[in-house]
Order: sequence, then C-alpha cells, then structure tokens
Amino acid sequence: MSDDSRLWDDVDAYFTSHLSPDDEILTAALRDSEAAGLPHIAVSAPQGKLLHLLARIQGARNILEIGTLGGYSTIWLARALPDDGTLVSLEYDPRHAEVAVRNLARAGLGERAEVRVGPALESLPRLADDHPDPFDLVFVDADKANNPRYVEWALRLTRPGSLIVLDNVVRGGRVTDPDDTAPDVRGTRAAIELLGTHPRLSATAIQTVGAKGYDGFALARVIA
Ligand code: SAH
Ligand code: DHB
Ligand code: MG
Repeated sequence: MSDDSRLWDDVDAYFTSHLSPDDEILTAALRDSEAAGLPHIAVSAPQGKLLHLLARIQGARNILEIGTLGGYSTIWLARALPDDGTLVSLEYDPRHAEVAVRNLARAGLGERAEVRVGPALESLPRLADDHPDPFDLVFVDADKANNPRYVEWALRLTRPGSLIVLDNVVRGGRVTDPDDTAPDVRGTRAAIELLGTHPRLSATAIQTVGAKGYDGFALARVIA
C-alpha cells in the first residue's frame, strides 16, 4: 500500500469520526457482510453519507439502486427517505441479497427497502411494468460492463429533475488508459460518453480518493 493511500485512509477515518460517528447499524452491516464472505467493495462511510445527502437534497421519495451487495449503500440511501418513501435495490447474487435483507431489517428499513434478486437487465423491464412511479434518484453500482445499458434504463425509469449517480468511474485512472480495454472500463467509458452526449442529461464526474483508493462518481441530472 502506498504512503498516499495510507494518508487517504487516515483522512477518511478522520472525516468519518466527525461526520458520521458511532453508527452501530452500519458497522454491523459491514461486519456481517464480511462474516458472510462478501467482497470489501461497499462505498466508504463518507461516500455513503454523500449518497445520503444527495438523496435528501433531491427530496427523493423513490430510489432505485443497481448493485446491492450487503446493503451498506442501501442503508445510507434508504435512511434519506420519508416514512412513505420506497427503495428498490437490484442484486444478482442471492447470497449478497440475503445478507442485505438482514442488514436492512436490523436497520428498521425492511418495509421501505426491497431487494430484487436476479440480473438487473432482467429485473429492470419487470420493474418498469410494476413500478409506474418515476424514481427520483438512481444509484448505479453493479457490473460496470453494463453501465451504458443501466443509464438507458435509468432514463426510462426517471423524470426531468431526477438524479443518476454512477460509482467507480475512475478506477485508479484506468478509465483513460488506452491499453486498458477490459469490459468494465469500456462500459464505464461508454457510459461517460452517453452522459456527455444524451440530450436529456446534464452530467459531470468527480474524482475521489479515500479508503476506496482513487476512484470517482459520475452525476447526471435528467433535464428533459
Ligand atoms: N452498492 C454496494 C456495492 C455494490 S458491489 C455498496 O456500496 O454497498 C456490486 C454488486 O453488484 C455486487 O453485489 C454484485 O453481485 C452485483 N452485480 C453484479 N452484476 C450484477 C447484475 N448483472 N445485476 C445485478 N447485480 C449485479
Ligand atoms: C468493485 C466494485 C465496486 O462497485 C466498487 O465500488 C469497487 C470495486 C469491484 O468489482 O472490484
Ligand atoms: Mg461501487
């Protein structure tokens, strides 16, 4: 681990200790995710708080998440909802979904947040049929190769004023490495190009460092 990344870890720990301290529910969610053998790829605490604040700023009542893992980001997002708000999170792996459902129940969010198991590209058409209300915020954080397709689906399931957030758009700089043609990197590039050219979207991307290394988010507002 480089000196820089140790410093980024320390600063994330400092921000977390002041800005989202002592959250037993989130700590337990990560502990049980780890105990179940899930990979350590949930958003960091400051990133989770950012998602939470974005959902609050957005006044979100309906949230869609693509990629649940153990439900850590799901808890941050669902906590931003009003009592009658709803969150749907799509997860491919039933083992991940099972851990997430338990974590959401412990957080008291079992009623508000629903996890649907299966490949997101199969769940999304069904969601379009049985969830007619547009989503106010979509958080895309699953298999990056499908990111352009997830952006297209997000456009179908949102309204002017909705916010679309994509995780992991930098990946240590892989996004601009011409020699890197891995499917996840290609998917992210295609998604960024789509965000930049789509007439219904106004977008930016922001580079981040922290406990998750050097990475970033893309943010897109649906404008028409
Ligand atoms: N949002 C989570 C992390 C998600 S990690 C958090 O920050 O806490 C990415 C998740 O996407 C993994 O659980 C993985 O199983 C899931 N995933 C991968 N491919 C998928 C697909 N095609 N459809 C739905 N989920 C998928
Ligand atoms: C990976 C996936 C993520 O969503 C993330 O935030 C970090 C890493 C991964 O698949 O390696
Ligand atoms: Mg991610």
